[in-house]
Amino acid sequence: MQPDNARLSMSVGEAMFSQRSIRRFRSDPIPMDDLHLILEAAVKAPSGGNRQPARFLVLNEPEVIRQFGALYREAWWAKRRDEKRPWTSREQIPPEDKGSTAAARLADEIKDAPCIVLALTSVRGGASSVIPSVQNLMLAARALGIGSVPTTLHPTVLERVYGLLGIPQEMEFHLCIPMGYPRGNFGSTQRKPASEVTFLNRWGASVNEWTSAAAPV
Ligand SMILES: Cc1cc2nc3c(=O)[nH]c(=O)nc-3n(C[C@H](O)[C@H](O)[C@H](O)COP(=O)(O)O)c2cc1C
Repeated sequence: MQPDNARLSMSVGEAMFSQRSIRRFRSDPIPMDDLHLILEAAVKAPSGGNRQPARFLVLNEPEVIRQFGALYREAWWAKRRDEKRPWTSREQIPPEDKGSTAAARLADEIKDAPCIVLALTSVRGGASSVIPSVQNLMLAARALGIGSVPTTLHPTVLERVYGLLGIPQEMEFHLCIPMGYPRGNFGSTQRKPASEVTFLNRWGASVNEWTSAAAPV
């Protein structure tokens, strides 16, 4: 049975404009009904040729999440080594680097997240056809008061992640999305203004005014 999408009644504007990364979660489990609705929202996203290569693996069993969490943590630090960041422990991250500090804490705490969704595709190179689904998934979660953050893994752990979770080799992993009820609040984000990253009709031509005067007659 299809879940009741009227439960996603938060306005799209409110969901998008208050969706920030949530990395700290309460331990409360996410009801299966809510997971169902979130995943139905995810599969409504478009894909190339409507081929629908996106696949999702939902983890909500604490022991599975604990084992996956150890691999996630290893992956996070492997990425830092690739970036040649000199840190080897959370304490060495400069406190002003709030993004890395929060991400490192997630790497420690993800083992206790109530839910993690892995987004994959059944074909190689399918990122463009799964990312819209992931955004739908996170917005639907937001509308239900559930926080999330998209994250990645690292090649050094992939084989073990596939082995742990029984993922077939032909699947391509894309994103790992821990989810849960937030400890902390949703809220506004810091982003460049649209006019700084948008051109009108010709690359480099700025959108000076977002008025109908700029529209063709
Ligand atoms: C492709 C991608 C990869 C990301 N990887 C991670 C990650 O590995 N760990 C993490 O904590 N956050 C990760 N994030 C979240 C970003 O850090 C976050 O979206 C950004 O800092 C903006 O945060 P805000 O939405 O709270 O403003 C990732 C986001 C994207 C889109």
